Amino acid sequence: MATTATSADRYSAGAIWFHWIMAALIIFNIIVGIFHEGVPALRALMPAHKAVGIAVLVLTVARIAWRLAHRTPPLPDHLAAWERAMAITVRRTFYALMLLMPLSGWIMVSASTHPRPLSWFGLFDVPLLPVAHAAGSPAGLTHSVLGYLFAALAVLHILGALRHQFVLHDTVLGRMIPGLLPRR
Ligand code: HEM
Ligand code: HEM
Repeated sequence: MATTATSADRYSAGAIWFHWIMAALIIFNIIVGIFHEGVPALRALMPAHKAVGIAVLVLTVARIAWRLAHRTPPLPDHLAAWERAMAITVRRTFYALMLLMPLSGWIMVSASTHPRPLSWFGLFDVPLLPVAHAAGSPAGLTHSVLGYLFAALAVLHILGALRHQFVLHDTVLGRMIPGLLPRR
């Protein structure tokens, strides 16, 4: 297994910032979204859920543009074809979900019969989308189904990262958390 890492093995600072800021925002939104009905304290966070979701949409557009313009480190050579395929599929699905989750949420609240202003942390109102009321139900179903898919894939992704660190002992987690890698 690889125990040393060169700069070619590392994610750049930009990729690392995008990853961890967005991971925190998305995990917050998944937890608040799934548990808000049963937990009153989380229900009070639904305006934040919507504002964080809009931030994720904007950050995802920036992240995809950034990702297309920069190279990222290749997966380690020792990975089997199925591991490689799984890592790449989860990555691509994440990018799709990071667009589809906020968009479906935005459509759902815009299609409400009595839409409330979509305030971004009290600083300004995000405009509602010009969608028909009939769009609300399919958008809500999409938001719910994809939300649970996102949660399941996040668990898989995190278990995969921990497996690299503690079972395979390679540099995959370290290149996303630079302190774990030996210094250059
Ligand atoms: C990263 C983006 C987002 C993620 C990961 C996310 C995730 C979730 C999840 C997992 C649920 C629970 C679904 C269920 O229990 O059926 C949920 C519910 C909800 N989300 Fe989001 N969401 C995001 C963005 C948004 C945005 C941008 C809005 C609106 C502007 C929004 C509005 C809502 C609403 C109103 C609910 C409650 C639906 C209900 O109780 O029927 N979400 N979200
Ligand atoms: C739900 C929150 C998360 C999301 C949406 C997410 C998303 C992503 C995405 C899209 C990539 C690919 C980056 C690229 O090459 O463009 C990635 C890579 C990575 N993530 Fe996450 N991540 C999340 C949470 C985590 C957590 C909590 C860990 C650590 C326990 C982690 C560890 C990693 C590692 C090690 C990589 C690099 C491996 C690879 O290239 O596939 N992620 N993540």
